[in-house]
Amino acid sequence: MDNNLYLIGFMGCGKSTAADYLRRVHGMRAVEMDSAIEKKAGMTIQQIFAEKGEPAFREMETELLRTLTDTENTVVSCGGGAAMREENIQLMHKGGKIVLLTAEPETILERVRGDNSRPLLNGHKNIEDIRALMEKRRPAYEAAADITVRTDGRTEEEIAAEILQKCL
Ligand code: S3P
Repeated sequence: MDNNLYLIGFMGCGKSTAADYLRRVHGMRAVEMDSAIEKKAGMTIQQIFAEKGEPAFREMETELLRTLTDTENTVVSCGGGAAMREENIQLMHKGGKIVLLTAEPETILERVRGDNSRPLLNGHKNIEDIRALMEKRRPAYEAAADITVRTDGRTEEEIAAEILQKCL
């Protein structure tokens, strides 16, 4: 089906919050990729990275996206690395529109500061490291996106409204 929304972007850019808002207020079905993977594996993301390794986690992401191709009216909150793999992007394009959410490194740092659930940010919670990883990923994010929505200083309501207005 092709009427789903895939929210991509850097860790802490607000994908899960926006997806949850679209679920609560606009009646979409929401899938949070990290939560779905954790549930299926019976392990946290941190445990998967530590015990199985990042490549195994990346396979789980692709596997999950494959299973989502016949869902409808669903907003998928993608893990921040999911758009780094071409196969994943093809699966997303097949299922609907790809929405890139952006935020400045300062905003990201504020949002992730007290949260240790993201292995790639542990030991890198500073503006320089966040900016460096963000810049490394930016070309892939921008190439994949059908639309882009800024999130700095904006409410979830404003962000959701812009997503819907640009996608419908
Ligand atoms: C990752 C982002 C995380 C999670 C994992 C790896 C990444 O998801 O999938 O920690 O590579 O950017 P969020 O973007 O939802 O934090």
